[in-house]
Amino acid sequence: MNLFREFLIVLLFNMATPYSWHNQDSYYCIRSFCTVALGDTRDCQKNISFLSSDPKTQQKAFTTGKTCFFDTIKSICDKPIIENISKNYDKYLETITKKPENVSDCFDPHYLFAQCRWRQSGRDAYLLLKNYKNSTKKFEAKDVANISKVCQGFKNSTYSCSPHDSSTRMVEDECDVIDLKQTPFIACLSKIRANKEALPKYKCVNFDFQTKKVSTLMQMFTTKKWCNKWIMKKHCGKSSVADFKKHAALFVKTLNSTLSYFTGYNPI
Ligand SMILES: *[C@@H]1O[C@H](CO)[C@@H](O)[C@H](O)[C@H]1NC(C)=O
Ligand SMILES: *[C@@H]1O[C@H](CO)[C@@H](O)[C@H](O)[C@H]1NC(C)=O
Ligand SMILES: *[C@@H]1O[C@H](CO)[C@@H](O)[C@H](O)[C@H]1NC(C)=O
Ligand SMILES: *[C@@H]1O[C@H](CO)[C@@H](O)[C@H](O)[C@H]1NC(C)=O
Ligand SMILES: *[C@@H]1O[C@H](CO)[C@@H](O)[C@H](O)[C@H]1NC(C)=O
Ligand SMILES: *[C@@H]1O[C@H](CO)[C@@H](O)[C@H](O)[C@H]1NC(C)=O
Ligand SMILES: *[C@@H]1O[C@H](CO)[C@@H](O)[C@H](O)[C@H]1NC(C)=O
Repeated sequence: MNLFREFLIVLLFNMATPYSWHNQDSYYCIRSFCTVALGDTRDCQKNISFLSSDPKTQQKAFTTGKTCFFDTIKSICDKPIIENISKNYDKYLETITKKPENVSDCFDPHYLFAQCRWRQSGRDAYLLLKNYKNSTKKFEAKDVANISKVCQGFKNSTYSCSPHDSSTRMVEDECDVIDLKQTPFIACLSKIRANKEALPKYKCVNFDFQTKKVSTLMQMFTTKKWCNKWIMKKHCGKSSVADFKKHAALFVKTLNSTLSYFTGYNPI
């Protein structure tokens, strides 16, 4: 990936204010609170679910955690804004937790926290994936499982207004690759790829399993997939080809991302 693209991705998941909200200043302040609360640095925030995606829970959190809320924003927002929020606290709370009248209005304050959650979890996933790909140490299974979990959190936080651009798709694809990596399907492919000796010649087709050539890999899991299924079953047993169709399709869909995982210390 070139540096420019990388820069864009970091920017995407870092940006504080992607949209200019209505009533910008107060909501900017509340949004900043979301970012700080995700950092979870203050004791007072530890037991309060300010960021819950469930409106009832969030409502309750902001009611019981009012003191904590103001304690947190006093260092990040201007005084007049804090006074304004303080005066209209219940009203602000309602606009944030209430389902928008127009669900396709992505500027509705309701999406403020949804977006904050999405951005943060996307950034978490992106950084873990980057670290994994570029690692000089071998990852243990539990670390890979953790990346899966963070990825799942990212997928869960996707909502109707979250941007779906190439950076988002890249993180999604790489998350899919991480999921694939934990399947018997990939375990088998890796086993065959790691085998230094050439495979016996098969009648249906003669693949070069060590290849990194896109067109060959594509063929292996599309037009010639049934032959490949047969070979994998023969080498790794039945369990490796359970869900073969699904895994093959996912492999092909994420082929570009998968290829970048073929190298390094944590290869597929
Ligand atoms: C308080 O904020 C609301 C919404 O941001 C705005 O409409 C209102 O004018 C502000 N009031 C004061 C006194 O600043
Ligand atoms: C959070 O809750 C746990 C258990 O409910 C309690 O032990 C802990 O003291 C609480 N922490 C704070 C900072 O309130
Ligand atoms: C809902 O919001 C979208 C996006 O801002 C807008 O295009 C659409 O006209 C709105 N619908 C209604 C009924 O206001
Ligand atoms: C990968 O890691 C090496 C050192 O471990 C570093 O020099 C290099 O810049 C990293 N590449 C990326 C794309 O982060
Ligand atoms: C998963 O990764 C995150 C981010 O690096 C880390 O904060 C967390 O402790 C990890 N969880 C486990 C169970 O390893
Ligand atoms: C994601 O959502 C699923 C289904 O709602 C849930 O079972 C899972 O625990 C969630 N995972 C994370 C990490 O939020
Ligand atoms: C994969 O990368 C190649 C060359 O970099 C590109 O032409 C192709 O469109 C990409 N495929 C997908 C599915 O992104």
